[in-house]
Amino acid sequence: MRKTNRFLMVLSLAASSSLWAATPTELLNGYATAAGAKGQPDKGQAFFTSTHGKEWSCSSCHTKQPTGEGLHASTRKVISPLAPAANEKRFTDSAKTEKWFRRNCNDVLGRECSNAEKADVLSWLMTLKP
Ligand code: HEC
Repeated sequence: MRKTNRFLMVLSLAASSSLWAATPTELLNGYATAAGAKGQPDKGQAFFTSTHGKEWSCSSCHTKQPTGEGLHASTRKVISPLAPAANEKRFTDSAKTEKWFRRNCNDVLGRECSNAEKADVLSWLMTLKP
Protein backbone atom coordinates (compact mmCIF):
# COMPACT_ATOMS: atom_id res chain seq x y z
CA MET A 1 0.00 0.00 0.00
CA ARG A 2 1.26 3.45 -0.82
CA LYS A 3 2.17 5.62 2.08
CA THR A 4 -0.48 8.25 1.39
CA ASN A 5 -3.21 5.59 1.19
CA ARG A 6 -2.20 4.15 4.54
CA PHE A 7 -2.20 7.63 6.00
CA LEU A 8 -5.72 8.29 4.69
CA MET A 9 -6.95 4.98 6.07
CA VAL A 10 -5.61 5.72 9.56
CA LEU A 11 -7.12 9.17 9.37
CA SER A 12 -10.60 7.92 8.46
CA LEU A 13 -10.50 5.21 11.15
CA ALA A 14 -9.57 7.84 13.72
CA ALA A 15 -12.36 10.11 12.49
CA SER A 16 -15.04 7.41 12.63
CA SER A 17 -14.02 6.10 16.07
CA SER A 18 -13.98 9.61 17.51
CA LEU A 19 -17.76 9.64 16.99
CA TRP A 20 -17.99 7.43 20.07
CA ALA A 21 -14.66 7.53 21.88
CA ALA A 22 -14.11 10.60 24.00
CA THR A 23 -12.51 11.87 27.15
CA PRO A 24 -14.42 13.40 30.10
CA THR A 25 -12.87 16.77 29.19
CA GLU A 26 -14.10 16.52 25.58
CA LEU A 27 -17.62 15.61 26.71
CA LEU A 28 -17.62 18.45 29.26
CA ASN A 29 -16.46 20.93 26.59
CA GLY A 30 -19.23 19.69 24.29
CA TYR A 31 -21.98 20.23 26.90
CA ALA A 32 -20.56 23.58 27.99
CA THR A 33 -20.33 24.83 24.40
CA ALA A 34 -23.89 23.68 23.67
CA ALA A 35 -25.11 25.38 26.86
CA GLY A 36 -23.12 28.55 26.22
CA ALA A 37 -21.87 28.40 29.83
CA LYS A 38 -19.08 26.77 31.78
CA GLY A 39 -19.96 23.85 34.05
CA GLN A 40 -20.34 24.93 37.68
CA PRO A 41 -19.22 22.17 40.09
CA ASP A 42 -21.18 23.59 43.10
CA LYS A 43 -24.40 23.67 41.12
CA GLY A 44 -23.67 20.18 39.81
CA GLN A 45 -23.26 18.80 43.33
CA ALA A 46 -26.50 20.44 44.52
CA PHE A 47 -28.34 19.15 41.44
CA PHE A 48 -26.97 15.62 41.89
CA THR A 49 -27.77 15.29 45.59
CA SER A 50 -31.29 16.83 45.53
CA THR A 51 -34.63 15.44 44.48
CA HIS A 52 -36.55 17.22 41.73
CA GLY A 53 -40.19 16.54 42.52
CA LYS A 54 -39.93 12.77 42.23
CA GLU A 55 -38.84 10.00 44.58
CA TRP A 56 -35.17 9.71 43.59
CA SER A 57 -32.16 11.97 43.34
CA CYS A 58 -29.06 10.99 41.35
CA SER A 59 -27.51 10.09 44.73
CA SER A 60 -30.25 7.53 45.42
CA CYS A 61 -28.33 5.15 43.14
CA HIS A 62 -24.88 6.77 42.79
CA THR A 63 -24.57 7.97 46.47
CA LYS A 64 -23.53 11.48 47.51
CA GLN A 65 -19.88 10.38 47.16
CA PRO A 66 -19.75 8.92 43.62
CA THR A 67 -16.06 8.05 43.87
CA GLY A 68 -17.39 4.89 45.52
CA GLU A 69 -19.75 2.20 44.30
CA GLY A 70 -23.45 2.89 44.08
CA LEU A 71 -26.45 0.67 44.61
CA HIS A 72 -29.46 0.72 42.30
CA ALA A 73 -32.43 1.97 44.35
CA SER A 74 -34.84 -0.63 42.96
CA THR A 75 -32.84 -3.58 41.59
CA ARG A 76 -30.15 -3.40 44.37
CA LYS A 77 -27.48 -4.05 41.72
CA VAL A 78 -24.04 -2.61 42.41
CA ILE A 79 -23.13 0.36 40.17
CA SER A 80 -19.45 1.09 39.58
CA PRO A 81 -18.17 4.56 40.63
CA LEU A 82 -19.33 7.46 38.44
CA ALA A 83 -16.42 9.84 39.06
CA PRO A 84 -13.85 9.54 36.23
CA ALA A 85 -10.92 9.59 38.70
CA ALA A 86 -12.31 6.46 40.34
CA ASN A 87 -13.35 4.66 37.14
CA GLU A 88 -11.37 5.15 33.94
CA LYS A 89 -14.26 3.87 31.76
CA ARG A 90 -16.56 6.72 32.76
CA PHE A 91 -17.38 9.44 30.23
CA THR A 92 -15.26 7.87 27.48
CA ASP A 93 -18.14 6.81 25.21
CA SER A 94 -20.51 9.60 24.24
CA ALA A 95 -23.28 7.22 23.13
CA LYS A 96 -23.23 5.42 26.48
CA THR A 97 -23.07 8.65 28.47
CA GLU A 98 -25.99 10.12 26.51
CA LYS A 99 -28.07 6.96 26.84
CA TRP A 100 -27.75 6.95 30.65
CA PHE A 101 -28.19 10.69 31.05
CA ARG A 102 -31.46 10.36 29.10
CA ARG A 103 -32.72 7.42 31.13
CA ASN A 104 -31.62 8.63 34.57
CA CYS A 105 -32.68 12.25 34.13
CA ASN A 106 -36.07 10.99 33.09
CA ASP A 107 -36.33 8.89 36.26
CA VAL A 108 -35.23 11.76 38.51
CA LEU A 109 -36.72 14.84 36.78
CA GLY A 110 -39.38 13.45 34.45
CA ARG A 111 -37.51 15.07 31.53
CA GLU A 112 -34.09 15.10 29.91
CA CYS A 113 -31.31 17.06 31.57
CA SER A 114 -30.29 20.28 29.83
CA ASN A 115 -26.77 20.74 28.46
CA ALA A 116 -26.10 23.18 31.32
CA GLU A 117 -27.18 20.58 33.91
CA LYS A 118 -24.98 17.93 32.27
CA ALA A 119 -22.03 20.34 32.24
CA ASP A 120 -22.59 21.18 35.92
CA VAL A 121 -22.81 17.52 36.98
CA LEU A 122 -19.81 16.42 34.92
CA SER A 123 -17.68 19.36 36.07
CA TRP A 124 -18.44 18.41 39.70
CA LEU A 125 -17.70 14.70 39.09
CA MET A 126 -14.35 15.72 37.56
CA THR A 127 -13.33 17.54 40.77
CA LEU A 128 -13.74 14.38 42.89
CA LYS A 129 -10.67 12.40 43.91
CA PRO A 130 -10.89 8.81 45.20
C1 HEC B 1 -32.45 4.29 39.60
C2 HEC B 1 -30.99 4.34 39.70
C3 HEC B 1 -30.26 5.52 39.11
C4 HEC B 1 -30.51 6.86 39.31
C5 HEC B 1 -31.59 7.49 40.18
C6 HEC B 1 -29.52 7.57 38.54
N1 HEC B 1 -28.69 6.70 37.89
FE1 HEC B 1 -27.14 7.17 36.66
N2 HEC B 1 -26.83 5.18 36.25
C7 HEC B 1 -27.57 4.16 36.79
C8 HEC B 1 -27.18 2.91 36.16
C9 HEC B 1 -27.77 1.51 36.45
C10 HEC B 1 -26.17 3.24 35.21
C11 HEC B 1 -25.50 2.31 34.20
C12 HEC B 1 -24.67 1.25 34.79
C13 HEC B 1 -23.24 1.66 34.80
O1 HEC B 1 -22.79 2.34 33.87
O2 HEC B 1 -22.55 1.28 35.78
C14 HEC B 1 -25.97 4.68 35.32
C15 HEC B 1 -25.06 5.39 34.56
C16 HEC B 1 -24.98 6.77 34.51
C17 HEC B 1 -24.15 7.52 33.60
C18 HEC B 1 -23.23 6.95 32.54
C19 HEC B 1 -21.80 7.45 32.71
C20 HEC B 1 -20.83 6.87 31.72
O3 HEC B 1 -20.47 7.56 30.77
O4 HEC B 1 -20.42 5.72 31.92
C21 HEC B 1 -24.39 8.85 33.86
C22 HEC B 1 -23.81 10.06 33.15
C23 HEC B 1 -25.35 8.91 34.94
N3 HEC B 1 -25.69 7.65 35.32
C24 HEC B 1 -25.81 10.10 35.49
C25 HEC B 1 -26.88 10.19 36.37
C26 HEC B 1 -27.48 11.45 36.78
C27 HEC B 1 -27.02 12.83 36.35
C28 HEC B 1 -28.52 11.12 37.60
C29 HEC B 1 -29.51 12.08 38.22
C30 HEC B 1 -30.24 12.95 37.29
C31 HEC B 1 -28.55 9.66 37.72
N4 HEC B 1 -27.54 9.14 36.96
C32 HEC B 1 -29.47 8.95 38.47
C33 HEC B 1 -28.54 4.24 37.76
C34 HEC B 1 -29.10 5.43 38.22
